[in-house]
Amino acid sequence: MTQVDLRSPETALAPEVSPTACLRLGVLISGRGSNLQAILDSIARDVLPARVVAVASNHAGVLGLDRAERAGVPWYVFSREAYPSRRARDEAMAEFLRYHEIDLVVLAGYDRVLAPAVIASFHDRIINVHPSLLPAFGGTLHAAAEALRYGVKVSGCTVHFVTDDLDAGPIILQRAVPVRDDDTEVTLAARILAEEHKALPEAIRLLAEGRVRLEGRRARIIPARTD
Ligand code: GRF
Repeated sequence: MTQVDLRSPETALAPEVSPTACLRLGVLISGRGSNLQAILDSIARDVLPARVVAVASNHAGVLGLDRAERAGVPWYVFSREAYPSRRARDEAMAEFLRYHEIDLVVLAGYDRVLAPAVIASFHDRIINVHPSLLPAFGGTLHAAAEALRYGVKVSGCTVHFVTDDLDAGPIILQRAVPVRDDDTEVTLAARILAEEHKALPEAIRLLAEGRVRLEGRRARIIPARTD
């Protein structure tokens, strides 16, 4: 199959790609999978021209895998113990994604850094959702707790391209939430998560419609066509 080039301006504007392109998604998870569910729900509501064609997890028995199973999506567990090294595990996972002819890899609550070789082989075709307004509170699995500890008044989530620099790739979009005086890590993380569930499908939609143009480290959003 022809792979959709997500960053070429020509492709971005080509009528055969937008708006009917159906992006083939490979989703990487580590746990609950509520972001995976948000993607599946958006597709089911017909507001996201994409298909989740494979799900990979680095942990067995997690709720996200039940969600994949329920949606009839092929899934596989790549646990660290089953491979001689992290790189070998990541390469097996990349092979699985290639076998399913993935256009876009979505890290949806995936709690490990991918091997550089894998990031290179899916160049500009991996995105991640992070529960903070990057570049604040990147590189941590406890972004809400750190935001509270620091005392920021606004937090949120970021969807960005994945590069070798952790949580530092070009930003596709961000959504902000207020931080309240009585927030705990749990209440703030829940408020941020609700925004992730909107931001991640929205970012995928922009990519599916060929409306994200990378210029250096800036990802510009091309306005929707009106004709
Ligand atoms: C999300 O907050 C995500 O940003 C972070 O881990 C959480 C995963 O949630 N990396 P879920 O597994 O999608 O429910």
